[in-house]
Amino acid sequence: MTAPPPSPASRYPAGGAAFPHANLLGIAGLAPHEILFLLDEAEQWVELNRQPQKRATTLAGLTVINAFFENSTRTLLSFEIAGKRLGADVVNMHAATSSVKKGETLIDTALTLNAMRADAIVIRHASSGAVRLIADKVACPVLNAGDGQHEHPTQGLLDALTIRRALRERGESGEPFNGLRVVICGDILHSRVARSNIHALTTLGADVRVCAPPALMPAEIEGLKVTPFYNFDAALAGADVVMMLRLQQERMEGQFIASPREYRHLYGLTLERLAKAAPGALVMHPGPMNRGIEIDSNVADDMARSLITRQVEMGVAIRMACLDVLTRYARGVEGWE
Ligand code: CP
Repeated sequence: MTAPPPSPASRYPAGGAAFPHANLLGIAGLAPHEILFLLDEAEQWVELNRQPQKRATTLAGLTVINAFFENSTRTLLSFEIAGKRLGADVVNMHAATSSVKKGETLIDTALTLNAMRADAIVIRHASSGAVRLIADKVACPVLNAGDGQHEHPTQGLLDALTIRRALRERGESGEPFNGLRVVICGDILHSRVARSNIHALTTLGADVRVCAPPALMPAEIEGLKVTPFYNFDAALAGADVVMMLRLQQERMEGQFIASPREYRHLYGLTLERLAKAAPGALVMHPGPMNRGIEIDSNVADDMARSLITRQVEMGVAIRMACLDVLTRYARGVEGWE
């Protein structure tokens, strides 16, 4: 598999930092060239990660703390692998086994991590806005690994990188996001993945449709430059990419769907339903999947259509790029201030 061509340097502002941000708290507000810069930076790490020897020294001597107040498999492990492959010392703090369980506040936890002189802190928290609160209290870059229903920016970036590489491998040249029709279907209301993807994909020029039962469509969707659908078959017409989301039962208070069986009937991605999308439409899911509810196994495991394991692979590269870019900016490396 050949590497995609590098992006032209002319894409970025001359003489200034291509990503002049102290933290990565969300995709909202980022300029197209800033998103593309992070995707371009990740390409080198995709290549490194495919080598037998995967170790760089870019972050040698730096300490990265992953502070996870919510469960995770993909995000926690890929941030840990990303930091280690860049040569950093990586420490994981799990809330379940920390002094949070003894009543320590979020602010005191943040001040404690800060006193340990971390060079980057990666945080996942169940409350929207908690990551920004911590970023305001610490002296190093903070990377949002998912905060409540707000944002999951590295997921939005890794999904964009996955789509771009898949389209380039099909021989599509130019800016692959322009006019690309992407359908995001599922529990939009509770999904930080949906929000970060909406911001990333619309900023890059994609035509984004969101589809959910009325109870799982957020009221603010009208302001997000997407087209809402309540009928999945209608949303799928002409779709180039179909991104499925999990029902987030852990965030639901009360009944949002009649039954899993009815939900699958109306909103599950089956082979038959996928045929309504554009020929060769790509399938994505951020994981974890509920097989047989929002997506059938014969769709998820179809390697000709499904990018799900590729998304995981791109997650490591994107997190390496984000750790590298943010710590470089924080250290004021030449050309970055
Ligand atoms: N996609 C994602 O955030 O997965 P995890 O919850 O396993 O990190």
